Parts: sequence; structure tokens; C-alpha cells
Amino acid sequence: MTNEAIRALLEDMTLEEKIGQLIQVPPQVLSSNGVITGPAGEYALSESDRDNMGSVLNVTGAARLRKIQDAQMERQPHHIPMLFMMDVINGFETIFPIPLAQGCSFSPTLVEKGAAAAAAEAAAAGVHVTFSPMVDLVRDSRWGRVMESTGEDPWLNARMGEAMVRGYQGTDLKEKGRIAACVKHFAAYGAAEGGRDYDCVELSERTLREYYLPAYEAAIRAGSRLVMTSFNTIGGVPSTGNRWLMEQVLRREMGFDGVLISDYSAVEEMITHGFAEDTREATRLAMQAGLDMDMVSSGYVGHLAELVRCGEIPEEAVDRAAERVLRLKNDLGLFEKPYKDGSEEGEKQLHLCEAHRKLAREMAAETFVLLKNEGILPLSKKQKTAFIGPYVHCRQLHGSWSFPSDPEHAVPVREGVENAGAEDVCFLPGCHMLDADMPTRFEERLPYDEAKAETWLREAVEAARNAEQVVLCLGEHRDQTGEAGSRTELTLPECQLRLLREVCRVNQNVAVVCFSGRPMEMAEVAQQVKALLMVWMPGSEGGNAVADVLFGDAEPRGRLCMTFPRKAAQLPLYYNHLNTGRPRSTDGYEIFRTGYMGGRLTPAWPFGFGMSYTTFHYSPVTLSADTMTAEEKIVASVELTNTGDKAGTETVQLYLRDVAASAARPVRMLRGVEKVTLQPGQRKTVRFEITEEMLRFHTGDMTYASEPGRFVVHIAPNSGVENPAEFRLVSEGKKDSLNF
Ligand code: GLC
Repeated sequence: MTNEAIRALLEDMTLEEKIGQLIQVPPQVLSSNGVITGPAGEYALSESDRDNMGSVLNVTGAARLRKIQDAQMERQPHHIPMLFMMDVINGFETIFPIPLAQGCSFSPTLVEKGAAAAAAEAAAAGVHVTFSPMVDLVRDSRWGRVMESTGEDPWLNARMGEAMVRGYQGTDLKEKGRIAACVKHFAAYGAAEGGRDYDCVELSERTLREYYLPAYEAAIRAGSRLVMTSFNTIGGVPSTGNRWLMEQVLRREMGFDGVLISDYSAVEEMITHGFAEDTREATRLAMQAGLDMDMVSSGYVGHLAELVRCGEIPEEAVDRAAERVLRLKNDLGLFEKPYKDGSEEGEKQLHLCEAHRKLAREMAAETFVLLKNEGILPLSKKQKTAFIGPYVHCRQLHGSWSFPSDPEHAVPVREGVENAGAEDVCFLPGCHMLDADMPTRFEERLPYDEAKAETWLREAVEAARNAEQVVLCLGEHRDQTGEAGSRTELTLPECQLRLLREVCRVNQNVAVVCFSGRPMEMAEVAQQVKALLMVWMPGSEGGNAVADVLFGDAEPRGRLCMTFPRKAAQLPLYYNHLNTGRPRSTDGYEIFRTGYMGGRLTPAWPFGFGMSYTTFHYSPVTLSADTMTAEEKIVASVELTNTGDKAGTETVQLYLRDVAASAARPVRMLRGVEKVTLQPGQRKTVRFEITEEMLRFHTGDMTYASEPGRFVVHIAPNSGVENPAEFRLVSEGKKDSLNF
């Protein structure tokens, strides 16, 4: 349809019809197969509401959605097709590593491919929109949703968010296999106090703009067609009713003109926040903030028409919102093709197809982070090896946002090792996944059999005693991470730690493979073993990828996108922090210096850290000049050498520091990454261009500009390594738009 036809349609619609385009109903309204992803409140719809409803979430299946679409278009007075939206977070049927793992790949190219494959599978199942990318910056791994983020750095989150938008949307939403992206959760949901999900966010505007907003802005610049509001308040104002955030920042500064949808029941939650007296007021506040679609709450469907009729909300506001939704449906081609790409044939061809499984397997190895290796990895396939632990047989490798996919299709470690052709191996459970009565997100207590636990432990110790080497497959339960998965303890369960201790007593050649949705407290585990490999929640091909890396058929290429604390008590902990007036120079306690008595201040492993199966040497950084004007550029370079005996890929990182400015600046900021593959002995000059735009920030008076002065450059393997060079910016840059 043309835009004129959209306008004509809008003019022909009743107020109730236009409001129908602004409501998203919960899955149970239309299907018993939907997935409920929020508090199950009652949701009453009149027959007229049912005639007009324009969208549903988390119902999938080509045949099922075709029936729903046919029935709804029949009922809708202008036969307007519905929008089918879903959480396609790290895959659809083929599940890729969780986003936190994908962040560790430092590879937007790879992440874009994964998003495109996920979109193709979801589109074949009739989905039109995904509630992804989630680009919330995170600093506190007690928060369960760090698994859904790509970490603590604004620059990396921006590159990852852009890549996912490109992968989902391509250049034309009508193109087969493309779905619309919805960047979330706007804004700063990852800063919830104490890592407690849904809790309040207290940030200065400068911190909000410097760290939390850039990735949303990048995803919007990349073309994300929707934005989702976040549950949290910022400074006491819920995002869903925050006019400054939605009108000034999102619409005017970032230029977003797409569909703004609330998170699940977030409109009505403004009542419990204490921001609205009742649903009617919450509806008014959300509409006045510019919210286009109400996900699941009974606000818009129950009160918007009356608010318009009594003049509290102008009908033009409803028209504007309805036009945005109709334009999105039109850009997806739904008026001509209401099923878009939904087809049973397409589902059969694409879901879990070989090409997608191959991509998932390659991606997983790129996300694994080797935190320690004292010469034990890669393993020999000929050595007698005992694989022990709850993750040896476990197929729950998808992470918490992968409900369409059946874990039965995932490859567990045991199968991966057998597929790799290892000769002399045995596989034992060793212990339960969790301690008795340990809670998960669903408050279920997993069955715990004391007698089995003792038998499993005894058998494991015997197998370890007789093996040349042991691989312990340990970690978090899938339902200990994700939404509402905040934890105060980040250690492995006691039953797993006991298994570790008992096995290490009888065998010195132990490697730990850890599955988790977050940075855990692993420093003490690492001290007891020779190797520690973080594999996160690796997805459908997890077991094959673990075997590939353990036996050296693939190298671990991941680098941490989020800091690993020594203790949860250190949190929040992140690399791009301010220096403070009394920084410590060492890890030990120093009186009158920042830190903890008796505790260590440094992380167990810093942002950007990860080992290869080879080693690399970095020359000192050279700069093409030691001063630059705002119009010039400086080229910073290092000579990188593979000093090991295996080929390897290094993730070379560029960090900048503004030494003195009208607002204190972080001790480091990531501003560039290059992945370099070198043969043993090979060397390569790695270059980065430093531009004035890269030096801009929100200055003391909150203008966005660079300031003349001293800058330090590091080109290093991670954020904890010093490799400094200095230059001066000698003239002021332009004061203009947010250019990240
Ligand atoms: C959930 C999540 C959001 C998700 C939505 C729909 O509560 O906060 O990320 O997209 O509801 O499932």
C-alpha cells in the first residue's frame, strides 16, 4: 500500500479500530500453545475488542498463525492483518549461544549471521517481529538477564546491537526471511539496583548518556523498527511514562519514528510504581509519553477511547500511533502477504538445518573463553579421559529465552565427545546439578536423591583415579539465569564443589568446562585445576563445539565482554570505571585508598580477557603523530607476533583514555577491535585510526564534544594490560549530534 492509502485507511477507521492496532494481547487469548512471559494477570476482552485487536505475542507455527490471521482478518472491519511478535533472542529452532556469549565473540559479522539465520527460521514459522536486540549495558552479574546482554561496554554493545538489527531486518523487511527488530529495554534496565530484576535505576544523566544510551542509539541508527520500554524507573520515573526519555531523547535526539511498545504489562505497573493512581491514569501517562503499543496490560484496550472522548488525549495522538503500526505492517508487506514467509515447507527446510547447525557450532567456539590453561588443553583423543559432571549429559544448553526449541535437539557434551572420535573415554554424572532445595526461577525444587549423590560421587572418584585426565562439566542450571533470575551467590553449588575437591584429590590433570548465563565466582575453582573454559549456554551445537575446542579442532576465541569478579561482594565491577581521587596501584589493601580491607579490588579476570592455544606478543604502540587537531587523524599501530607453536586468532583491542576533562573520564574506553589470525611465528602490523569523533563525550556542561588535552592509547589483549602511548588533541571539535 502507498502511504496515501495508509492515511486513507486510517481516516476510514473508527476510534476503537485505531486503538485495536495499539494493543498486543497475551498468547492465551488466541492459542493454548503460546508462551506466557510475564505475571499471568486476567485479561478481559469484549467481542468488539476481539474484532479490533492488532497484535499478539509469543504464538508461533506457520499453520497456527495462518489460521489465526485468517480468522482475525475476517473479523477486523477493514480486514487489517495482525502483527505476530516473539522473543527470538538467540535463535528460533536452531539455538545459538546466548547473547552474553555472542558478545564475547567480539565479532559483529558472526553475530549478524546468527541473527539472519534466526530471522529466517522465525519468519518461516510466521513471526513478523522479534523482541531483540537487547542492548542493556550490564555491570552486575547478580542480575539474571546479563545472559541476554552483550556486556559492560557501550561501544561493543553498539556494534552488537547494530549487527543483530542488520541480521534480522536486512535492507528490506518485505524480503523473504526478514523480520522487524525491536531494540530493548529503553532505557538502562541493566542498571537495576543490586542486580535485582525490575528494581530502581539511579543514574546521573551523564552516566545514562555515556554508558547506557549509545547502544540503543546505534540500533536505531541501524534501522530498528521498534523500541521497547523498560520496566524500571530512572530517578523515580518509570520509562513507560517518561516523557523526557521518550519524547526528548528517543524521538527528537535519536530521531526514532518507529513503533514504541511497552514491556509486558509495564503500562499498568506504573500503578505499583506509585506513578499512576489507576489504570486510566497510567494509560493517559503512557500515551502522553508517546507509547504506541500496550503489551498485555488492560490500559489502552480499557481506557484509551474514553480518554479521547473526554478530551484528555487528542485523537491525533491515537492516529499517529496507529499510523506507525500500520506503516510497519505495510513495510513488512502484510497487506499483500498477511502470512509473510510462514510456510510449513519453509519450517521443514530451515529449522535445525545443517547450515544453521554448522553456524551455531562455529559461533559457539568463537564465544568460549579460556580463562586458564596450564598445558593441559587441547586434550589428546587417545588419552584415557573421564568426563564427569551434571553437564556431561545435559541437553539444557539453550539459555532461558529459547522456548520454541526442544532441548532434545541439542547436542550434549557426551555426544560431542563421541562424535569427535575420542577413543578411551568414560562419562559419569558425578553429582546433581543443584544442591538439595536450591531454588530456580520457577521456584521448583529439582529432585535430589542423597543415595544417588553418594553413589555418583564414589563412581566419579574411582573413574578419575584411573584416568590420565579429567574434564569436569559444571555450571549453573538453565533456570538459575534469565528474567527474574537474580542471585546473591555466584559460586557453583556445594555438590559440584565437593565433586571438584574429591576429583582433584585423586587426579592432578583436571580441566573444568563451565556452563553459565553470567560471570561466576570461579577464581577458587581455577586455583584447583589446570584449565578453565567458560562455554556459557552454547546452544544447539554445544556438545560438538565443546569437543571441538577441548580436542583442538577449534580454538577458543572468546574474550570476556563482562568482568569476572573474585567475589559477588565486589559488584558492580567493570573495567571502564572512573579513577577516583585515591586509586590503588596494587591489588593489595592500601590505607586511604579505594578498595576493601582484606579483599582484593581487582577482578578475577578483566573485560577483554581470554587465552588462545598459542601466545601473542605485542610491540609497544607507535603513533603516526603525537598531536592532532580536530580535523586530523592519528594512526596507532602495534606489531603483533604469534609466538606459539599453533595458529591462532587474537582479538586486538584499542583503548583510549582522556586524562583530564571537564568531567572525569573512564580509565579506559574500548574504541576498536580487530581479530587477527596468525600462523606460528607470523607477525602483522595492526592499525587503528583515531578520530576526533572518538574523543567526544558529555562535557561538564553536558554538551557533546571533544576537549583539547592529553590522551593515552593502549592497544592490548585485554583491558588489564598496559601498552600506553600518548598524544594531545590541540583544538576543539564540533559541538553537535550524538555520534557514537
Ligand atoms: C518480558 C521481557 C521482555 C520480553 C517481553 C515479551 O517480560 O522483559 O524482554 O520481550 O516480556 O516476552
